[in-house]
Amino acid sequence: MEQDTNEQLHAVAAYYDSFAAPGKEGSVTEYEEMYSTPLCKAEDQAVVATLTKALSKLQQQFPGQKLLAADIGCGEGLGLELLQSALNQTPSLVPVQYIGEDISSAMVAQASAGFKGKPGVLFTVADMHHIPVLDSSIHLVMSIFGPFSYSLSPEELVKEIHRVLMPGGIAVIMPYTMRLKIGFLTGATTAQDTDFSHTSKAYSKTGLEKLFDAWFEQVSIEGMNFLGNMIEKMADLGLLGSGPEIYSQILALDNHLNTFLPPECARHMFVIVTKSQNE
Ligand SMILES: C[S@@+](CC[C@H](N)C(=O)[O-])C[C@H]1O[C@@H](n2cnc3c(N)ncnc32)[C@H](O)[C@@H]1O
Repeated sequence: MEQDTNEQLHAVAAYYDSFAAPGKEGSVTEYEEMYSTPLCKAEDQAVVATLTKALSKLQQQFPGQKLLAADIGCGEGLGLELLQSALNQTPSLVPVQYIGEDISSAMVAQASAGFKGKPGVLFTVADMHHIPVLDSSIHLVMSIFGPFSYSLSPEELVKEIHRVLMPGGIAVIMPYTMRLKIGFLTGATTAQDTDFSHTSKAYSKTGLEKLFDAWFEQVSIEGMNFLGNMIEKMADLGLLGSGPEIYSQILALDNHLNTFLPPECARHMFVIVTKSQNE
């Protein structure tokens, strides 16, 4: 079992290493290129909105404190960029210290180079099941666009997230959804060639509730981007304008579909949990 786990970790690291090299545009990596469509940029803004909400709750909870954030499966550091945008939208917030960790050393090298010299920021190669920080030391654990799905032991991962969060701390986690896996509706993925050969898992709301309810009292799960991919297809066919604004408008509207549809029907899901104050 341990050998399988190591093999899987190596396979995932090698897979992501291969994307962290400069792509066709030269200056940006293949990974960045893959996720630079207008729809992806609109999804990024939906992440910013979710982080902004989490940050304002944390600000109320921990007034005047410097917030510590851990980004597990940080890739090339998109999470830090989006966290920075969220902070810019809430200027009264105190600064954040950020640690980003990833199993792919090439991704971490890319992230470190991209944010070189930025104070309060550290990128490190680590397995997210062993976050290199003390118990109850982190205000915000974030994990955006899928790292959670690569865990072979999600129960352990949720326990680890709980371990590092301080009471009142918040985690914003985005596992892959069933829709992404099975291609429900049109356009399972905006990446040209998402490869699930590394046994990444796609989750349903109930599956995630089972995992997170074991450690957290407050678990909220929401879908993001139910319709965006269909709109993208229509734009590709010339049936619609294709300006980036349309995607942000669609994502804002389709947020309401959370009332009617299970979140696993969306392209992404947010699991938002708060560690109880009494722990
Ligand atoms: C789809 S990418 C998302 C990267 C980044 N969060 C983003 O949004 O750009 C998934 C990332 O999870 C990382 N990953 C997978 N398993 C991991 C593990 N056990 N520990 C740390 N990182 C892991 C991969 O190396 C990859 O960079």
